[in-house]
Amino acid sequence: MTAFDALKKTLAAEPKTWLVTGVAGFIGSNLVEALLQLDQHVVGLDNFATGHEKNLAQVESSVGPNRWARFSFRRGDICEPATCHDVCKGVDYVLHQAALGSVPRSLEDPLSTHAANNTGYLNMLIAARDAQVKRFVYAASSSTYGDHPGLPKVEDVIGKPLSPYAVTKLVNELYADVFGRCYGMESVGLRYFNIFGRRQDPDGAYAAVVPKWVASMIHNEPVHINGDGETSRDFCYIDNVIQANLLAATSQHADAANQVYNVAVGDRTTLNQLFEAIRSLLAPQFPHLADFKPNYRNFRAGDVRHSLADISKAHTRLGYEPTHRIGEGLAEAMDWYVQDLS
Ligand SMILES: NC(=O)c1ccc[n+]([C@@H]2O[C@H](COP(=O)([O-])OP(=O)(O)OC[C@H]3O[C@@H](n4cnc5c(N)ncnc54)[C@H](O)[C@@H]3O)[C@@H](O)[C@H]2O)c1
Repeated sequence: MTAFDALKKTLAAEPKTWLVTGVAGFIGSNLVEALLQLDQHVVGLDNFATGHEKNLAQVESSVGPNRWARFSFRRGDICEPATCHDVCKGVDYVLHQAALGSVPRSLEDPLSTHAANNTGYLNMLIAARDAQVKRFVYAASSSTYGDHPGLPKVEDVIGKPLSPYAVTKLVNELYADVFGRCYGMESVGLRYFNIFGRRQDPDGAYAAVVPKWVASMIHNEPVHINGDGETSRDFCYIDNVIQANLLAATSQHADAANQVYNVAVGDRTTLNQLFEAIRSLLAPQFPHLADFKPNYRNFRAGDVRHSLADISKAHTRLGYEPTHRIGEGLAEAMDWYVQDLS
């Protein structure tokens, strides 16, 4: 039995109360869905800056009325300390996802990224400390590796940040570490690599590559590749992220807490390979894709060239074992994309 299977049994036998911030977003809505499926009690916080009510509506219909009754939602902003204190009351574990993602957004508007990702984050950390939650798990980022060229990326070797967004995610790690030393608080930072899956937003200037390309291909619109397409990423399916969060919150390994972990698969996929993987999955249903080609344009400021994770630390200390490689994740998510984006 895997560590995650064992954990699911334990949680089902003894439900806990979880707080998921950013609960109306892509990762947050998947976390609340998984927790409710396990009969947990969940408090959710979101201000809908980039999240959507329809994500929560999808969770409601997927889990059914009995489990949905275990969820309480608070519309609010993590930049308000009182809101953070309110939602942390009586909570066992915090899964903090609320933030403004996207490197280009942070280059255009560093102040709002800073407000949500650092001021809001610090509010949440203080509120979680004051409420004496068992553990504070937060969304860190692979962008923290910055300009360090080494591959695969190992947690304790980082470079200089390449964007304001990367600075905010590095600062999150520094605060969590200091709260461990100064206040004895337990935290875990999860450095997500490129996450994809159901409910990831395909719209807007800052959309992530997988949903954006799927939507463009379905609608026969141009797909743009920044650079020569040989830029590579360690694409990680949402189910692996759910597993990492739940294990991170509860792992009893002596050195599990007050650490950061890579959350990825340990596979490197170029943008050209990703394009072809998506095109070939969609082509049987969308004949216009038989001969579909990408448009190449300039490299984008702030982007790192290659990204690939060493996931052995998460495996050893958390029991993390990704269940989906990129092909399996894309195949599983494709039905959802086609239904939702067509
Ligand atoms: N998706 C990825 O590939 C990826 C990679 C690395 C790190 N991350 C991090 O994971 C977390 C979740 O990302 P996601 O992809 O689900 O993004 P998302 O935009 O879908 O979700 C973020 C959610 O946070 C909410 N939010 C933003 N600011 C808020 C505020 N001030 N108060 C309350 N709620 C607020 C948004 O409305 C949204 O629902 C973020 O911290 C992001 O930086 C994501």
